[in-house]
Amino acid sequence: MRFGFFDDAAREYVITTPFTPHPWINYLGSEDFFGLISHTAGGYSFYRDPRMRRLTRYRYNNVPTDAGGRYYYLNDGGDVWSPTWAPVGAPLDRFECRHGLGYTTITGERNGLVAEVLYLVPRGADAEVHRLRLRNQSDRPRSLHLFSFAEFSLWNALDDQTNYQRNLSLGEVEVEGSAVYHVTEYRERRNHYALYGVNVPLAGFDTDREAFFGLRRGWDQPQVVVEGRARNSLASGWAPIASHQIDLTLEPGEETSLVFVLGYCENPPDQKWERPGVVEKAPARALLARFATPGQVDAALADLRGYWEDLLSHYSVRSDDPRVDRMVNIWNQYQCVVTFSLSRSASYFESGIGRGMGFRDSCQDLLGFVHLMPERARERLLDIAATQFPDGSTYHQYQPLTKRGNHEVGSGFNDDPLWLIEAAGAYVRETGDVSVLGTPVPFDNDPADTGTLFEHLRRSFHYSLDNLGPHGLPLIGRADWNDCLNLNCFSTEPNEPFQTTANRAGRTAESVFIAGLFVHCAPDYAAMARTAGFPEEAEAAAGHAARMTATVLAHGWDGEWFLRAYDYFGEKVGSRECAEGQIFIEPQGMCVMAGIGVPEGAAERALDAVGARLGTAHGILLHQPAYTRYHPELGEITSYPPGYKENASVFCHANPWVMIAECRLGRGERAFDYWRRIAPAFREEIPEVHRLEPYVYAQMIAGRDAPREGEAKNSWLTGAAAWNWVAISQHILGVRPEWGGLRVSPCLPAQLRGLEVVRRCRGALYRITIENRARHQSPRMIVNGHPIEGSVVPYAPPGAVVAVRVEM
Ligand code: GLC
Ligand code: GLC
Repeated sequence: MRFGFFDDAAREYVITTPFTPHPWINYLGSEDFFGLISHTAGGYSFYRDPRMRRLTRYRYNNVPTDAGGRYYYLNDGGDVWSPTWAPVGAPLDRFECRHGLGYTTITGERNGLVAEVLYLVPRGADAEVHRLRLRNQSDRPRSLHLFSFAEFSLWNALDDQTNYQRNLSLGEVEVEGSAVYHVTEYRERRNHYALYGVNVPLAGFDTDREAFFGLRRGWDQPQVVVEGRARNSLASGWAPIASHQIDLTLEPGEETSLVFVLGYCENPPDQKWERPGVVEKAPARALLARFATPGQVDAALADLRGYWEDLLSHYSVRSDDPRVDRMVNIWNQYQCVVTFSLSRSASYFESGIGRGMGFRDSCQDLLGFVHLMPERARERLLDIAATQFPDGSTYHQYQPLTKRGNHEVGSGFNDDPLWLIEAAGAYVRETGDVSVLGTPVPFDNDPADTGTLFEHLRRSFHYSLDNLGPHGLPLIGRADWNDCLNLNCFSTEPNEPFQTTANRAGRTAESVFIAGLFVHCAPDYAAMARTAGFPEEAEAAAGHAARMTATVLAHGWDGEWFLRAYDYFGEKVGSRECAEGQIFIEPQGMCVMAGIGVPEGAAERALDAVGARLGTAHGILLHQPAYTRYHPELGEITSYPPGYKENASVFCHANPWVMIAECRLGRGERAFDYWRRIAPAFREEIPEVHRLEPYVYAQMIAGRDAPREGEAKNSWLTGAAAWNWVAISQHILGVRPEWGGLRVSPCLPAQLRGLEVVRRCRGALYRITIENRARHQSPRMIVNGHPIEGSVVPYAPPGAVVAVRVEM
């Protein structure tokens, strides 16, 4: 059974039933104000920081699931229902949720009444705007009581869920006109408040949760709604909410629209009060006036659509397969932008109170949006670099509001520094902005200790070299990309986090993956060194990469594939000598991407072993065999039941490395086949197995050792978005910015015969036609009518339009 379908022309995914296996969500907002919204209007909104500035309350892990949202209730002559199905759950004659780019529209129809709610965060506004359209399609007049509902979070989301002795006495509201103001803690150190208003006069309102629901009643049958009578309650402590009552009559055929605004406002500290004890509402009134008519909402939606249209025009494809086109042209890029904005903070699997911005995660996320928003990529790059320590190591995470490194998690993940090179290389190749390399950036945010960005990269590169182990491979530290391969941790205490607990001192545990990453980064590093005026450093880098390559082949090769690591005792990890965990995906993908073992044939053997041992219908497993018991010397990886998470699931982040590696060997059929196995638009065909949103990647898909093989978990905020984007757009379709020009080097399966790619890069437009009919020994390239050697199209000046034709 399908739960929906793609509407490509509208760039929407359309969900046709409330009963998806899991809430299928979308994101509203792209600047400072964000909302998460499920297909039945669950979720919450926040200003900038989902932990410190949460506007509305949401209950994770609740029964029933997905409890809390911005809800509407209708009382139609005693018949109570919700246009978004939840929270009443009354059966609908028609249900439809359209998740679009930055907005969601949910429509419910019951007994001839159609109610459609559009939710969006307009650009430049710190608010969710909801347009509720009601249409009477029946042949009799209808008199309705309409109620809105939002429950306020007392700002600090963690405190809100834990500190009841204080919080239950804090809640304060004001009501003015048709708006409810949430002003808890405004009397003391907060200069911000929330509001929820509507553009019509009220029949009544409620701001006290218990008054609205009634004693011991649930979301589905609030007393106020059932009785059709608001209580005009004023919250005092307990749980402040906002609910508007609006009474209306619709003649047969009549339609009306209402506009609700759920927003955030801040006042300067000396202008907090309108008069003693009354909050200054000037910014709120201005916000309400901006969205006071349906026409203003239409304009905001048109503006949002235009924004996305423009963004997505930087890369698009037309192929024989609509599933390819919708992943490339719409959903993969959209997910990359959401992931850039939110890192790993707030989703239906990330609570918004846990992790800050990951150093390695943010560097890799940049690969997925740098072509869309180069200025924001530049800013991000400099922010990340500022959390590096003088010795080249880095904080593992930093806080989005302060941009400071996070002391609680600390450092010691030895792959982190190298990802900065990956990100900087991607940025400069995309934009040509070499000035960034000379830009001063502090170490550890200390203005007294500053170096150029290139100096940061130099310390990143040398950090690996300064921290080699007994075989000459990089030391792993706390872990490398696989956060759970904790070779120095030896934790036996269930309450200590693997990521932060004191590690054993030891300089033996080494990572073949980091060695591969080092070699992979070296060409970009060398090119940046040359650009920044350090040709000797560029030379030296090439030498270091060659030595590391030799070291990997000498000590990181197991005979049929690359080893994963050496543990604290110098024992092999990821070897055929191991009882479990004999082969791992990460070093195979990364080493071959780096070119290690390509001339020797080792690369091909390694990828063949991946296909044979790790390949499944649901993607490539992290390792095999899965660990069946806990090994303190390996750490968290062995803490998970077999087939889940880092213990042998399909980790969608690491799969694209193998796709790219296959392209490196020219094996387009395999690359595409791996891509297809995990691409959401293809997994849409098995929704009961996959279960999560068919329009975005999830972090993982349960592996074959798990009882629920093929089931996805942790959708939206994952490095899978950026790396799958790199694999499909730059390697399979093969259009990627390099130092000397735009490389057009597709590596395609036979089934994609004719393609057109449109790529904007450095201000010029490239129209690329690819004919894939295996007519020539090596591809022929024709640029503006002239054949050229090789596959690199020199960069054209801004404004130019370049016609490229590739005959395969
Ligand atoms: C999570 C982390 C990422 C890590 C991966 C593998 O996705 O965010 O940093 O690389 O897990 O452990
Ligand atoms: C856990 C997860 C891993 C994630 C890490 C972040 O170890 O398994 O995926 O990267 O937490 O703290």
